[in-house]
Amino acid sequence: MNIIKAHNLACPIDGKRLESEGKQLICENGHTFDVARQGYVNLLPVQHKRTKDPGDSKEMVLARANFLNSGVYQLIANTLAKLSTALIDNDTGIESDEICFMDAGCGEGYYFDSLFNTLKNKDGNRNLSFIGLDISKPAIVEAAKRNKQIIWVVGTNRQPPVADNSVDIIICVFGFQSFEGFNKALKPGGKIILVEPGPDHLKELREIIYTEVKKTDPQDLSFVEEIGFSVLDTQPIQFKTCEINNEQIHNLLIMTPHFYRATKEGRDAANKLQKLELTVDVVFRTLEKTGL
Ligand SMILES: C[S@@+](CC[C@H](N)C(=O)[O-])C[C@H]1O[C@@H](n2cnc3c(N)ncnc32)[C@H](O)[C@@H]1O
Repeated sequence: MNIIKAHNLACPIDGKRLESEGKQLICENGHTFDVARQGYVNLLPVQHKRTKDPGDSKEMVLARANFLNSGVYQLIANTLAKLSTALIDNDTGIESDEICFMDAGCGEGYYFDSLFNTLKNKDGNRNLSFIGLDISKPAIVEAAKRNKQIIWVVGTNRQPPVADNSVDIIICVFGFQSFEGFNKALKPGGKIILVEPGPDHLKELREIIYTEVKKTDPQDLSFVEEIGFSVLDTQPIQFKTCEINNEQIHNLLIMTPHFYRATKEGRDAANKLQKLELTVDVVFRTLEKTGL
């Protein structure tokens, strides 16, 4: 496949297309955004921020990068690549010659980089572009180190800074979901692949940090039909990790919401563990934008 530069970024202030001019992106109304030395662009104006430093902190981002780079979640990345490939391969999939992927809440870019590499090495003549979006600046700074051909953007899933109806496939892995934002960004017939934890995800860790462990199903998506989506496919995957060591247990705890939810005793108990084998239970759901 051919990799091309995404050309559908839009000004977060007025929604006009952004054009590249030297080291800046500029819209027709003269709003300019610098391309940072590290290669990413910040399209999160202060009026779209709800806190000073939104999204994951540098500590969380580095812990996640460390954990994911060890390959423990490789099967999740492989499944994502398989499902994305199927969407652009089969007859019910996306047919245009140019396909824009957006990772909404891409974090430090592990999954999107992996998807990029799978698709880049695939036979075919289609032009693929990739936009990785996250509200966390430290996450995007790390992501920009992974891959120089993906456009990495600091921005929000609530108002993705892309032209309306310009994205073919959105992936959202354990990310913040905004169906309103996704609907605006997607072309008619565009797809979303949502990756969410299943009821037994990381149950061994949860059994250590909580006194009571709940089995929570992924959210019921029946409401999406009312907002112009249909669910095409649901695919759960479950596997056991190898034994992870104390450092990886610590990283895992920091990169998940459990770090904030657990009591100090719970966190201490997890941090004392020398090894742990974990159940990974994840549900992949593919949605299609049908319109209303
Ligand atoms: C649990 S992490 C998942 C990161 C990545 N998808 C992964 O699985 O490795 C959630 C990510 O969503 C980002 N995030 C939170 N709110 C967001 C928003 N409104 N728009 C875009 N990203 C957001 C966080 O900064 C964080 O990087």
